[in-house]
Amino acid sequence: MHSDRLIVNLALIGFMGAGKTSVGRLVAEQLHFDYLDTDELIQSRTGRPIVEIFSTDGEAAFRKMEQELVGELAARTKTVIATGGGLPMNPQNLVSLKTHALVVCLWASPEKIWERVKNQTHRPLLHDADPQKKIRELLAAREPFYRQADVLLNTELRSVREVAQQVVHQFRLEASRRR
Ligand code: S3P
Repeated sequence: MHSDRLIVNLALIGFMGAGKTSVGRLVAEQLHFDYLDTDELIQSRTGRPIVEIFSTDGEAAFRKMEQELVGELAARTKTVIATGGGLPMNPQNLVSLKTHALVVCLWASPEKIWERVKNQTHRPLLHDADPQKKIRELLAAREPFYRQADVLLNTELRSVREVAQQVVHQFRLEASRRR
């Protein structure tokens, strides 16, 4: 990693159900950082659930909202940013996040992801005749983007608390390298 990079925030990327929200909240607590969730912010600003944005305006409109929001994040400091699962597919978003944040990717296998999301209904991309196949396909297509994170963490055999500890450790390590 370039040593001239400014790391004042922490961004969590990864597939739906990887644990970005639950891990992000814990990490923010431990680092005494603010917590921000790109999906939550888009929903509160538009006053509409993501499922509705997708069905009425289409995915492209949602991706545009994501990109605009990512641009604003460069003004933040001491913030844990949990991102929507598709956000890093836009290379510009990753480039932008890396100008101010350590980017950590939470990883899990398609099987584990299915186990975690199968009883949830708020994700439009999983409203599919064969959601398990959809997960496998999307994850395979996205893997090269997720791999561009600064840190890749497998969440499979770890509890939320353990993953959060690892993330905090990586962040402190990176911060101390820059002192
Ligand atoms: C999406 C993931 C969702 C949300 C939207 C699209 C994706 O966020 O942004 O439904 O493309 O993977 P989570 O990863 O928080 O579920």
